[in-house]
Amino acid sequence: MNRCGIFDSGVGGLSVAKEILKAKLFDEIIYFGDTARVPYGNKNESTIIRYSLEALEFLKNFDINFLVVACNSASSVAIEELRKEASFPVVGVIEAGIKAIENENRNSNILLIGTKRTIESNKYQFLLKKMGFKNIVSISTPLFVPLVEEGIVEGKIIDDVFDLYFGKLNREKIDIVILGCTHYPFLSSSLQKYFFNAKLIHSGQAIVELLKKDYGLKEVNNTTIKLFASDNPKALKDFANKIL
Ligand code: DGL
Repeated sequence: MNRCGIFDSGVGGLSVAKEILKAKLFDEIIYFGDTARVPYGNKNESTIIRYSLEALEFLKNFDINFLVVACNSASSVAIEELRKEASFPVVGVIEAGIKAIENENRNSNILLIGTKRTIESNKYQFLLKKMGFKNIVSISTPLFVPLVEEGIVEGKIIDDVFDLYFGKLNREKIDIVILGCTHYPFLSSSLQKYFFNAKLIHSGQAIVELLKKDYGLKEVNNTTIKLFASDNPKALKDFANKIL
């Protein structure tokens, strides 16, 4: 049986799980949301590494043979440590997100948004520059995480937070917005209205392509998903029921 473990700090990784589920690349998906300790993105590197290794230990109980790190903050600081502890492939969302823009014009104006840890790790910026992209603005937008966890994805509060973070930008000039946090795809419709000329890059969609191409995964007959959370599993399941 092909069983994939997926984890995030909370509900955000469900945006990735949703795409993997739809593509039917595994017989079973085991999803773990570390809701007792969300958010990860404001924490120290060493803390995120420890939380990530604990998530891996939990998922190993289910005999997984693949791990998707559906958290950019963990992908930016913990991927090597996770790979050392796993005897199966470990794939992060940053590599997928980067692959998704490989055919874009190198003069595009890119806005990268993510948690503090993801932005400060400089992982995306380094890889984008290496690919030849020159115009990159990066902004950490941590308030989006609790808002999405609360199910608030549009309306006045979101508009105010957009103005707080993006008020100084010339928004019609932005060509690409990289959603560098897996919570952010749930804000896609509001973000697309705000950055009306931009293409939004969502690593959940990109990861399906990467899994097919780089790991040769093929569609199976049926995929089931089991959901776990370190606190209030009902809230995670209710959220999943709405979006999956
Ligand atoms: N969804 C996660 C990410 O992609 C974590 C957000 C957080 O817990 O701060 O970074």
